[in-house]
Amino acid sequence: MSSSDKQPFPHLAKMIHLNHAAVAPWPAVVRDAVQQFAGENARVGSTHYPAWLKVEMQLRKGLASLINAASSDDIALVKNTSEALSFVAYGLEWQVGHNIVSSDQEFPSNRIVWESLEQHGVEFREADLSSASTPEDALFAKCDQNTRLLTISSIQYATGLRMDLERIGQFCRDNGILFCVDAIQSIGAVQIDVQAINADFVMADGHKWMLGPEGLALFYCRPEIRDKLKLSQYGWHMVDPLGNYSVKTWKVAKTSRRFECGSPNMLAIHALNAGIKLLLETGMNEVEAKVLANSRYLCERIDEIEGVKRLTNIEAGRYGGIVNFSCKDNDGLFQTLEKQGVFCALRGGGIRFSPHFYTPKEQLDKAVAVVAKFVA
Ligand SMILES: Cc1ncc(COP(=O)(O)O)c(C=O)c1O
Repeated sequence: MSSSDKQPFPHLAKMIHLNHAAVAPWPAVVRDAVQQFAGENARVGSTHYPAWLKVEMQLRKGLASLINAASSDDIALVKNTSEALSFVAYGLEWQVGHNIVSSDQEFPSNRIVWESLEQHGVEFREADLSSASTPEDALFAKCDQNTRLLTISSIQYATGLRMDLERIGQFCRDNGILFCVDAIQSIGAVQIDVQAINADFVMADGHKWMLGPEGLALFYCRPEIRDKLKLSQYGWHMVDPLGNYSVKTWKVAKTSRRFECGSPNMLAIHALNAGIKLLLETGMNEVEAKVLANSRYLCERIDEIEGVKRLTNIEAGRYGGIVNFSCKDNDGLFQTLEKQGVFCALRGGGIRFSPHFYTPKEQLDKAVAVVAKFVA
């Protein structure tokens, strides 16, 4: 093991990773959890399954605490954000003429599934978030008496625009509209409270700000409306009694386990649990403060560079961990950044930087210096 592998974030010694809004590098604790799980499987198989179930329970509790769900029973462990969105889209009863309101900045996961409901006579409406005095007002202007659901990313994947979820949740509650939040760009970076925002559905995969692997997501469904979602997947794991294979009568589980039809992804559960534990031990107050400080710092440095235009809104409450900016030759700048060991993304007509709470300031300075030199 090299000395960098002993560090809590081994990649820091080798690269500048500003791409948590895509797929996060694994911290050492996540790597170790996977290695430990693999070693155990190879040595003794699943003989310690009861201990694995404890890790699964710990993960549910950790996720519930990250989003302030009332109970870990409100958390389902599903494949990804898209699957959870599909559970909502194909679980609700729709009538011809219903509409769904969203923004024109959504990642395709939060657009395609709603557009697919057109076959059932449901209209998908995209608000231009810059068309009103606030992004929320732009959404509200698209709603009418036929709006059944409003669905929005808590933070837009490209521009990094952060929505006022509390205000949207209140509007939805007042107008009898269901409220769905794709929170993948928030959870693990900035705080989110599903009860305070009156969310009906919240989903997020674990491979970005939660520092876990791809392919394991949380799906929160407000308990009061859980049985309003028609189920489309059935199996041994989503029923009561659980684990009594010879009993032929069954009932759908009352808890969110009803959305988990078969065997859990135990490997990913061990990995994500380690990522969540790290965040909770650091404390989400501290994580959020550092994420926001990094974004602010990047924006201030970028604003100093002539020939670069910042695309991220840096007003308080309007940003999270994503900073986007553009210059005359974004493709060229992107390639130069890559060559200089700065890993980031080209998104939404700009370069997207997304450091996490632990990213050192010197790495931000180095990345900004590459940008300044390129446009000079
Ligand atoms: C806002 C948003 N939603 C969803 C996803 C990914 O969805 P899934 O978990 O289904 O892969 C991304 C990935 O970049 C995203 O930025």
